[in-house]
Amino acid sequence: MLSKISETRKSFDEDLSKVSNLKSLEELRIKYLSRKGIVPQLFEGFQDVSREEKKNVGQALNELKIFTQNQYDLFKEKLENSLKSSEEPDIDISLPGRKIELGSKHLITQTLDEIKEVFKGLGFSVYEGPELESDYNNFGALNFPDDHPARDMQDTFFINKNFLLRTHTSPVQIRLMQQKKPPIRALMPGKVFRNEAISAKSYCLFHQIEGLVVDTDITFAELKGTLVGFIKQFFGKDVVYRFRASFFPFTEPSAEMDIWWQPKGKAGRWLEILGCGMVDPNVLINVGIDPEKYIGYAFGMGIERPAMRKYGIDDIRILFDSDIRFLRQF
Ligand code: DAH
Repeated sequence: MLSKISETRKSFDEDLSKVSNLKSLEELRIKYLSRKGIVPQLFEGFQDVSREEKKNVGQALNELKIFTQNQYDLFKEKLENSLKSSEEPDIDISLPGRKIELGSKHLITQTLDEIKEVFKGLGFSVYEGPELESDYNNFGALNFPDDHPARDMQDTFFINKNFLLRTHTSPVQIRLMQQKKPPIRALMPGKVFRNEAISAKSYCLFHQIEGLVVDTDITFAELKGTLVGFIKQFFGKDVVYRFRASFFPFTEPSAEMDIWWQPKGKAGRWLEILGCGMVDPNVLINVGIDPEKYIGYAFGMGIERPAMRKYGIDDIRILFDSDIRFLRQF
């Protein structure tokens, strides 16, 4: 019996060394380990073993059983792993490739870039400020008196008593003048927020570009010249424009600029595109700049409306929808 056991072990080793795939491994399992296999058969012969031999034979039988089962398990795992790693990747190389979509700049970003380029050519540098602003920078420092109805011009999202989402980019003027002494020639683009009813014409969020020039000998004529130069580059040199007297708490005198707009086949009309004026001396005092020595001009304009005009878009909401079918067109 003992010799039978050691022969079985030998032949098992031999057979195992010939196994090359799962099918032959399964054949090996059936031959040795299945219910009618060689190993269980040997166990059946155990009852005929003499008493003296029972201990040795029993031990040898158990060892054989454990050994063959372990070898089988190990080999099976190895075989399965190597099959997994060498398996063909799940790709059909004859399929047409997936198209990689190239992103592009949003129409508003493109317009901002275009405006920045024009003003860079006129010697302006670009600055930015935060969207969460103090009530003081957004209103107080810009000469809006505390309870003046001028504050009602802008429906404000207040965060608390002292902080708000800025309603215009003019507070960036304040930040800049607090940090930098004249001469200043700055362009300040950014998002602004107003608590307005959302419609085709207005949205709670839009973009503005603010301009500020402060130096010792600045004139209103220079302000006009700069803005006229800009709109000619942006809308084309034949653009028809006018300046109108207006009011802003932070400029004196103040004006608004309109352009004549006539879409094909429709009646023309004047469209307001920006506000501007000479920086009010009170604003200079608020930021510690001597108004006896320095003088400045400022302007501010929305981006969405000129962009909509330029590209023939009639609903502002589409600019914030992220609808890829729309965005793809630019
Ligand atoms: N901040 C104004 C607004 O949001 C626009 C503006 C008007 C800005 C005149 C200026 C300015 O710098 O001088 O309506």
